[in-house]
Amino acid sequence: MLLLLLLLPPLVLRVAASRCLHDETQKSVSLLRPPFSQLPPKSRSSSLTLPSSGDPQPLRIQTCYLGDYISDGAWDPEGEGTRGVSRALAAVREATQRIQAVLAVPPVQGPLLLSRDPARYCHAVWGDPNTPNYHRCSLLNPGYKGESCLGAKIPDAHLRGYALWPEQGPPQLVQPDGPGVQNTDFLLYVRVAHTSKCHQEATLHELLHALGFSEQLFKKWQDCPSGFSVRENCSTRQQVTRQDEWGQLLLTTPAVSLSLAKHLGVPGASPGVPLEEEEGLLSSHWEARLLQGSLMTATFDGAQRTRLDPITLAAFEDSGWYQVNHSAAEELLWGQGSGPEFGLVTTCGTGSSDFFCTGSGPGCHYLHLDKGSCSSDPMLEGCRMYKPLINRVSRQESRQ
Ligand SMILES: *[C@@H]1O[C@H](CO)[C@@H](O)[C@H](O)[C@H]1NC(C)=O
Ligand SMILES: *[C@@H]1O[C@H](CO)[C@@H](O)[C@H](O)[C@H]1NC(C)=O
Repeated sequence: MLLLLLLLPPLVLRVAASRCLHDETQKSVSLLRPPFSQLPPKSRSSSLTLPSSGDPQPLRIQTCYLGDYISDGAWDPEGEGTRGVSRALAAVREATQRIQAVLAVPPVQGPLLLSRDPARYCHAVWGDPNTPNYHRCSLLNPGYKGESCLGAKIPDAHLRGYALWPEQGPPQLVQPDGPGVQNTDFLLYVRVAHTSKCHQEATLHELLHALGFSEQLFKKWQDCPSGFSVRENCSTRQQVTRQDEWGQLLLTTPAVSLSLAKHLGVPGASPGVPLEEEEGLLSSHWEARLLQGSLMTATFDGAQRTRLDPITLAAFEDSGWYQVNHSAAEELLWGQGSGPEFGLVTTCGTGSSDFFCTGSGPGCHYLHLDKGSCSSDPMLEGCRMYKPLINRVSRQESRQ
């Protein structure tokens, strides 16, 4: 599977109040892809022989802890850092176990090996199309120190080798293939950062980004018209997102469109599921006005108010990478049965829906677990809802 060769963002913890670390890290993360003609064919391992075959099995996620602990500079006499790391890794383990009951793939045969980025190790390629080693690496980049992700080195043992090619003839191997990682479909690199307030509970959210719910990965989603288990006819999806006539970004793939319509009680399929726009960029989160309480909105509102909802699971089905266990979905109450106009900036203030409120008085949070006060936040874009009355320290306050 192509997916398995992607290098994942290592930071899996999410900053307390609002923003998700994913967005910040994605800007500086590049994806590692299957190699093109740089390596002798026989050095390519079986995991590259797409499509992978076999009956889908629970996704085997291998966590690789890149042992550098990042602290925000505080002296740590009590060993708080070490305890923080083990708590964080326990949270990762819990999230990966939960995912195994939800996502399945045909297992990777043999060890999983990541490919190197030729643009990093190779300075020049042979340019004459009439020579046998055309487009292969003719000059290595002297500064190449291996692959890394956000400053953390990826072990050579997990990577394919690379070679230098003469204009004619066989290559000179610089670094052979590593042994790879056995019994693994998905390698997750984890780096633990100590920030003023981290939410281990958000670990699952970050893991879902890494598994495909990400603006950077949307363009790699697959369309498999013959069904998930018949991989031969899969191709890259032509359209995953688009902007509608009012400028709203939508995820437009079939399963999410059906799932949203069902959720809102609308017949047929919706035109797509709105995505949050953050600082003018396409984001990797559902629009919070519409899907408040989903695990994949940008605001983290506490684990007890967050659901792994059916629309998010539909997105994983649309990725074409997984067989999805839809019975693992948790019910999303927000907006249920509220019709096609629900959650729009133009309708949320009109009193047409009990999920939204006007003014600033007290009331009940929609899950009826918390008292609330009618308020807004940047993600709600002027819409107001009863937000829980808890001494939650906002991110701005906590970072003073
Ligand atoms: C699918 O999800 C349900 C509900 O979480 C769970 O009981 C079941 O074991 C899952 N099936 C598989 C194959 O993991
Ligand atoms: C793949 O697509 C081709 C052309 O549409 C079709 O003939 C073939 O039966 C499909 N293969 C499978 C396994 O569905």
